[in-house]
Amino acid sequence: MNSTKAIITSVGHYVPPDVYDNHYFEEFLDTNDQWIRERTGIIERRFAKDGATSDLAVPAIKMCLDRRGLAPEDIDCIIVATVTPDMFFPSTACVLQEKIGAKNAWGFDLSGACSGYLFALATGAQFIESGTHKNVLVVGADKMSSIIDFEDRNTCILFGDGGGAVLLEPSEEEGYGLLDFDLHIDGAGEPYLHMRGGGSLNPPTQESVANKLHYVFQDGKAVFKEAVIGMADTTERIMKSNNLAPEDVRWLVPHQANLRIIKATADRIELPMENVMVNIDKYGNTTAATLPICLSEWWENGNIAKGDNLILATFGAGYTWGSGWLKWAY
Ligand code: UT7
Repeated sequence: MNSTKAIITSVGHYVPPDVYDNHYFEEFLDTNDQWIRERTGIIERRFAKDGATSDLAVPAIKMCLDRRGLAPEDIDCIIVATVTPDMFFPSTACVLQEKIGAKNAWGFDLSGACSGYLFALATGAQFIESGTHKNVLVVGADKMSSIIDFEDRNTCILFGDGGGAVLLEPSEEEGYGLLDFDLHIDGAGEPYLHMRGGGSLNPPTQESVANKLHYVFQDGKAVFKEAVIGMADTTERIMKSNNLAPEDVRWLVPHQANLRIIKATADRIELPMENVMVNIDKYGNTTAATLPICLSEWWENGNIAKGDNLILATFGAGYTWGSGWLKWAY
């Protein structure tokens, strides 16, 4: 049996410099800091004043490669999880390949909404484990400010812009890397969280713009109920099937959509919150970027060590959801 596993060998992230705290929204919406904090856990987020999603990814990729001492030419494949690609085509992977000068890489974008990063990580790991690739860059980046309606208090307060990247490489050292994953989709979730405009279903017209079809729509309550169940279920399942007890888990790395969803997941697996990565207070929901930003920040602060068990958990539009078990390798 092939014993090669995909390990993470470097991490990087980027958030734009401009900070928007909850009070910013009080100026033009019927909302307030207390409501946002108590219902979501968000205190502030970053919005990029200009540029595209690829501009959030480039600094994250550079940090990731610099930390590993690799050149862009060393990359074999770039996988980009995003719901805000620079354009429909070419892919943001192509845009990034050109921008960073990864002359030897192929790549593609992957659409999995808030679970996109986990789906991309699992996909990248297959190329490593099959033995065909040596350096796979897995990027998660979203410029959510480009698709949120700043007149809709139900959604605009939730999101932020950011990017993250990890490098996957092969390892023969037993028991390290992405050891298991549990991934799901359920298209019945589409009515509750979507952006219907701009695709072949609703090509852009003056009417589609007037009807705000090019913005995120979310029925928050409906998604919340499913997210609490879905994220906790998949997390519990991956721990049980790998005989992991709460004390075996150094970090739960949850998608950062709502602090109450994160706490419900931690409660279900009986994990204290000091073992849970939380930065929603600083960045809000950056969609495909939440997981790699967490990994990069926690690593940067010296809080992840070789041998640590990490459980990744996500839930998002689709619905999409899943979990992954990662044994940190460096
Ligand atoms: O990342 C992708 C997956 N997405 C998620 O996981 C998000 C899941 N959903 C949520 O996180 C929560 O449902 C929200 C944070 C979006 C909303 O929290 P909630 O506790 O479910 O509030 P709600 O939607 O039930 O709204 C409660 C009240 C409503 O007023 P009424 O109908 O009770 O009079 C809303 O209109 O709060 C009102 N409301 C607001 N009030 C002040 C909604 N948004 C705001 C706001 N400020 N920004």
